Amino acid sequence: MIGIRLLLLVTAHLAQAASPTWVSLNVSVPPMLIDGDDAFNYVDMFVGTPPQLLSLPIDMQSDLISVYSNDCPFCPGTTLYDSRQSSSAKDPNKSLNGTAQLNGKWISDSIGFGGVVQAEDISIAMINTLSTNLKGVRTINGGFGFQDGLPRNNSIRKLIPELYATGQLLNPVVGMRLDPLNPKLTIGALDPNDYDGEINWVQLEPNNAGDNLYNQFKVDGIVGRNGTMVPYGDNLLGGINSLFLGIAVPDNFTWSLEEDFTGPFYNHSLSIDASSGRLSVGCSDNAIVWGPGVHVPTPYVDFTVQINGVKYMMDSQEIVRSVNASLAPKGFCSLVVRTSTVKGKPDFWFGLPFLRSIYIAYRLPTGECPGYYGFAFPKGANRTQEQISQKPRSTPAQMSQCLNLAAPTSTPTLAPPPAPEGSSVLYSVYGQEGLQVPLKGVEFLKKGVWNVTA
Ligand SMILES: *[C@@H]1O[C@H](CO)[C@@H](O)[C@H](O)[C@H]1NC(C)=O
Ligand SMILES: *[C@@H]1O[C@H](CO)[C@@H](O)[C@H](O)[C@H]1NC(C)=O
Ligand SMILES: *[C@@H]1O[C@H](CO)[C@@H](O)[C@H](O)[C@H]1NC(C)=O
Ligand SMILES: *[C@@H]1O[C@H](CO)[C@@H](O)[C@H](O)[C@H]1NC(C)=O
Ligand SMILES: *[C@@H]1O[C@H](CO)[C@@H](O)[C@H](O)[C@H]1NC(C)=O
Ligand SMILES: *[C@@H]1O[C@H](CO)[C@@H](O)[C@H](O)[C@H]1NC(C)=O
Ligand SMILES: *[C@@H]1O[C@H](CO)[C@@H](O)[C@H](O)[C@H]1NC(C)=O
Ligand SMILES: *[C@@H]1O[C@H](CO)[C@@H](O)[C@H](O)[C@H]1NC(C)=O
Ligand SMILES: *[C@@H]1O[C@H](CO)[C@@H](O)[C@H](O)[C@H]1NC(C)=O
Repeated sequence: MIGIRLLLLVTAHLAQAASPTWVSLNVSVPPMLIDGDDAFNYVDMFVGTPPQLLSLPIDMQSDLISVYSNDCPFCPGTTLYDSRQSSSAKDPNKSLNGTAQLNGKWISDSIGFGGVVQAEDISIAMINTLSTNLKGVRTINGGFGFQDGLPRNNSIRKLIPELYATGQLLNPVVGMRLDPLNPKLTIGALDPNDYDGEINWVQLEPNNAGDNLYNQFKVDGIVGRNGTMVPYGDNLLGGINSLFLGIAVPDNFTWSLEEDFTGPFYNHSLSIDASSGRLSVGCSDNAIVWGPGVHVPTPYVDFTVQINGVKYMMDSQEIVRSVNASLAPKGFCSLVVRTSTVKGKPDFWFGLPFLRSIYIAYRLPTGECPGYYGFAFPKGANRTQEQISQKPRSTPAQMSQCLNLAAPTSTPTLAPPPAPEGSSVLYSVYGQEGLQVPLKGVEFLKKGVWNVTA
């Protein structure tokens, strides 16, 4: 009897290990970035047993998954996590040791994607205190961090390393494009349908506690419209922040004051707001500003990042905001390239305008292999054959050991998300015009009695 049980366990394990696979996930991205608004890119995952659908914003500066507990009073979200409804949730009663503004506890549970891959006992930072006064970005629903090799004192079980260690993934790699045309996140393989050109692999710099951004990489510089490098110096490093709506450079004037670099602005109309330093350029007709009947065309602005000899153009509409998305004077649209306010490295903070213009792969560090980012062009984007056929200047030393990735053959089909629990009646949300959400347990709420005479 025991022998049979063991045999069954072994075959079950082998069956899992014998078929490493990958997943291709839809990402929900904002159609356009708007000045003064946060913007998040959501990936759906199933957490717990039975599965709860959580839609978590990608956070490329984190290595952990954080969720908002369903009893968290000020956590903004549409999908909250209820550990009490999950038979696989484990609660070691360990505090996150956070702050009065942000706190919660460590919990662990199973996490999977569409029934194709699933890992057990993944560490989850479950937030149950989130103050409206929190400094910094208050994300919606929590966060999906999938970086690895970041310094931390406590050991946590991370989702993608665990999926790979249990033989479920073809490769320890993530592929991502966050452009509105066809946003995707793949885990376990890179999808040739997502990118064009050769993947330009660059090894990541070592991460140290206290770094301004993790997973920094060498950048040649910013190439101007006239083909000359914007003079930001040598030994430049870049970092990626998927919660940042702009691009930060050592000094924006070095680029923005030279139309040889930016391309021509209508009537040389670069404007700088004296108090905020906000940059904007003429972009739309306005009788008072430009005179009646004067047509001001939509500007085309150049911002090209060169990495390991390859030039990646940012789409102009990501560098100059659309007129209705700009907190700029009438007739003007804002430029999103700003001066970094943080001392030290990296020199460039690449936020969403960068991530919406490129394809990026992340090879997680494992064993002898360090971490790498790989860059390419999003398939279907406005790129010329000349751009796509650029070749990296060099290939990493351990290319054959670490970057010889298994290609996917077919695309696994994901199971549909579980039916949402609770009321099917939708309610509108204060301050979020057009948003309609289900309200779990609304039937148990006492109806308010307004004693207007008191
Ligand atoms: C992903 O998006 C595509 C296109 O919108 C859609 O056809 C497909 O059903 C989506 N897949 C999932 C798993 O939601
Ligand atoms: C959880 O930990 C707190 C403080 O560390 C303690 O007061 C409490 O009794 C613990 N709860 C359980 C259920 O063990
Ligand atoms: C939180 O702080 C307590 C008390 O200082 C400590 O015992 C515990 O190990 C800390 N937990 C974590 C997860 O750091
Ligand atoms: C680890 O703990 C040490 C000592 O408490 C602290 O100085 C350091 O910042 C911590 N590192 C991280 C990554 O939290
Ligand atoms: C490009 O423009 C910059 C700034 O005006 C100038 O210094 C540089 O010489 C120009 N390069 C070429 C090739 O014209
Ligand atoms: C652009 O650079 C100028 C000059 O250094 C500075 O005064 C201004 O605040 C900067 N603007 C932004 C948005 O960073
Ligand atoms: C363009 O700039 C010139 C000089 O700065 C100014 O005289 C002219 O009125 C401007 N044209 C428009 C349409 O604003
Ligand atoms: C901006 O908003 C105005 C007024 O709602 C509209 O007429 C115009 O078409 C919008 N422009 C763009 C570029 O979306
Ligand atoms: C495509 O990119 C070229 C520059 O390479 C630019 O001139 C053109 O306006 C872009 N087209 C669109 C639709 O953005």
